Amino acid sequence: MKADFHKYQAQTTPHPLALEVSNAQGSYIYDTDGNAHLDFVAGVSACSLGHCHPKVVQAINEQSQQYLHVMVYGEYIQEPAVSYSKMLASYLPENLETTYLVNSGTEAIEGAIKLARRVTGRSQLLAAHHAYHGNTMGSLSLMGFEERKQPFRPLVPDVAFIEFNSTEDLNKITTKTAAVVLETIQGGAGFIMPRQGYLQQVRKRCDEVGAVLILDEIQPGFGRTGKLFAFEHYDITPDILVIGKGMASGLPVGAFVASFEMMQQLRENPKLGHITTFGGNPVIAAACLATLREITESQIIKQTLEKEKLFRKLLVHPLIKEIRGKGLMLAMLLENVEIANYLVLEAAKKRLILFWLLFEPKAVRISPPLTITDDEIKKGCHQIIGLLHNYETASVN
Ligand SMILES: Cc1ncc(COP(=O)(O)O)c(C=O)c1O
Repeated sequence: MKADFHKYQAQTTPHPLALEVSNAQGSYIYDTDGNAHLDFVAGVSACSLGHCHPKVVQAINEQSQQYLHVMVYGEYIQEPAVSYSKMLASYLPENLETTYLVNSGTEAIEGAIKLARRVTGRSQLLAAHHAYHGNTMGSLSLMGFEERKQPFRPLVPDVAFIEFNSTEDLNKITTKTAAVVLETIQGGAGFIMPRQGYLQQVRKRCDEVGAVLILDEIQPGFGRTGKLFAFEHYDITPDILVIGKGMASGLPVGAFVASFEMMQQLRENPKLGHITTFGGNPVIAAACLATLREITESQIIKQTLEKEKLFRKLLVHPLIKEIRGKGLMLAMLLENVEIANYLVLEAAKKRLILFWLLFEPKAVRISPPLTITDDEIKKGCHQIIGLLHNYETASVN
């Protein structure tokens, strides 16, 4: 299987972790030798309710007995997509009431920037240095890391960059700006939080010049930071909210959400402003619905902040310079890249799953299922501290 994986499946790095998966349940992934691997990554923040949550699996099973794909997005009335969009609206501010369901986070970003250009009649898109919004051409154009996008130029024109958290750069938002696209909490950059008041200033500046504010909550959304959506921490509302990853607890999905009036722009002059075959897929929408119900009707969100406290209490070691992030979107900042790599790779040998962040090589991500238990947190943190202790001892000797 390993040889076939390397040969027949296109590779994204020269050194994939290559864990051979048999099955997964709760906070554990089981390999083909029957070993249990404790998951501190959750498929990179995607498996919000853990692996194969019974309510999500039940929703998938029930829907798959009824119908699978029947029509392209937007033509037929399919109950799971309608109910989900309506339920989502009930948890969002009034101006975020209409949802366009798509297949991935990056497609949701594409839809959002198309909508912003359509609504404003302007072309300029402003994104942040070290931003990550996905890998299709539009999203890639917004990536704030030149090295990774240079080989793919030319990209979408009229994209410029601001420094995340810089008040000075706000004057780059002008009457030429169609949209400012920001991650509410920067992910790939190393889980960088907006400083107090920053997002409110961005919101104010966008209002002054008539630019659309797009917040990318593909990673922090759906309870991961201790609120259903991270923007709720900052007392602002975006014009377009972009979501994905954790919303279906392990199936591929994305969505952009805006006001009813804004969304009208995609249906006329020209019509079919965004088309997708599988967007709103009934099985995936059923999984989204089960996930949202479970997140909002349980204590999961509240417990997220308690679990953050436990991680912060346990992950204390001289080689951990800082713990960044919020809720269960945490990053350990190690003293150097070598220690970060050592930790991820040695933890894998001990069957603890950790992973890197895109643009901050000294960081190791901790984004476990929101359902992780205190005992599982203690077990994994104990392993991390043990590995760091071993590293320290080995470097002294
Ligand atoms: C903040 C953010 N935006 C966009 C994306 C792209 O989502 P997808 O991989 O589903 O296309 C990601 C994925 O990691 C992300 O973290």
